[in-house]
Amino acid sequence: MNKLFKISALILAALMLFQGTFSAAAAFDDKSMTKEEWQAVYEEKISDNTLPMLCVGADETELNICWHAQKETAIPKVRLSKNADMTDALVFEGETTPAENEEQLVCRVTMTGIEENTTYYYQWYSDNGWSEAYKYESKSFDSFKMMLIGDIQIGGQSYDNPEEQSRIGYVWQSVLDEALTKNPDISFLLSPGDNTSTGEAPDEWQTLLMPEYVRSLPLALAIGNHDKKGMMYDYYTHMPNEFFGKYFEGLDRDFWFRYGDVLYLMFDACSGSAADHRAMAEEAVALNPDAKWRVGVMHQGLYAPGIAMLEPETNILLNAVFQPIFEMYDLDIVFTGHTHMQGRSNFISDGLVVGMAESGKTYKDPNGIIYLNTNACCDQGNAGYLFPYTAYAFENADVTTYSTVEFTSSTMAVKTYRGDNSELLDSITIEKTKGFSDSEISVFFRTMLYKLVELLGLVYMRIDAIVVAIRGGHF
Ligand SMILES: [Fe+2]
Repeated sequence: MNKLFKISALILAALMLFQGTFSAAAAFDDKSMTKEEWQAVYEEKISDNTLPMLCVGADETELNICWHAQKETAIPKVRLSKNADMTDALVFEGETTPAENEEQLVCRVTMTGIEENTTYYYQWYSDNGWSEAYKYESKSFDSFKMMLIGDIQIGGQSYDNPEEQSRIGYVWQSVLDEALTKNPDISFLLSPGDNTSTGEAPDEWQTLLMPEYVRSLPLALAIGNHDKKGMMYDYYTHMPNEFFGKYFEGLDRDFWFRYGDVLYLMFDACSGSAADHRAMAEEAVALNPDAKWRVGVMHQGLYAPGIAMLEPETNILLNAVFQPIFEMYDLDIVFTGHTHMQGRSNFISDGLVVGMAESGKTYKDPNGIIYLNTNACCDQGNAGYLFPYTAYAFENADVTTYSTVEFTSSTMAVKTYRGDNSELLDSITIEKTKGFSDSEISVFFRTMLYKLVELLGLVYMRIDAIVVAIRGGHF
């Protein structure tokens, strides 16, 4: 009996140990849904617009959140606790700003003091009082893995089409389910823009926020041309370090954030204000001298595969505006979207291919920048246009994809997977033993040369404003 007791105790201890290990690794609770379950949730929630968005903070120790609430009940407060019963909770207060309608306000709060590899529970103050407690598990800070999904574009190419909106919402829900199940160590999700279709429908943002996974997954969302058709991005996001510049107008803004050793420069590529984009990069780089990696993000796919790359706007104008900034500050990689075709470039420097970047290989201190272009959630139909700079392209038009980028202080591993079964499609690793090459002299000369681009950018902005007004919005 005594022996049996000892064996049972041993088995129990082993089980507890296994359970502890398992729960530490299982970062995302299963929120999978059948299409029918999704449709029921969609129909229940679509006419509401109060789901919150969890956003990346200014660095890995902060989390931003925003939500809509009725004017009478809007209180911008969040509670954060390490306990599921919300005992010992810290309360964070933020601010309210006007919403896009008369009845509501937008609440924005920043939670600070987030520690790595820690389980938290949070509640926001909704119209019905404190929300239920949601779990957020922070990950490792020094070395971490982030995820990329592009052109979520809720609504696709349509306007006021509930069936299409729900269909794309389910693709979004499903790729999150697949990616987070297979990669429980994801720290946050970054999208290079086109989060919504019309940019002016609150229910597009509501659909984007319907998957319960995003309650535990901070988002970093760049602005795309579709978002630019309206102003809703302004009311439904809470990105850190927003930079409104001297010449930006309307929705225009860049932002930047830091996560571990990595500095992210998020450009609003739908604004040709070169002077503002350069100023944002200059400020962010100056404030982060110890960053080991620099990442650029813009919507339009410079050096991407796909038909949209044939657009002169991307090829000529945006190339002239952004590439010099990327070179000036010696970026390691640039994430793009817009062409709806997954792909990756060879190493590019000042417009030239300066080295092959073959799939499956590791490169030490390479010269040049890699451009990683994301597929689209809304459709995967733009196959077949490859270019000499293309190192990899996924030409299956029926399947979405996701990418992960894993950073350590000395390595960056980029991997792309099928969005339906996580089959590895492409990978490349960069090993870095040297610092950035943006010496003061180099930046000075490049900045001088760039003055002409800044001037032409301002001229372009004026012309673009007229064209957009005649056209009735961005493409
Ligand atoms: Fe786009």
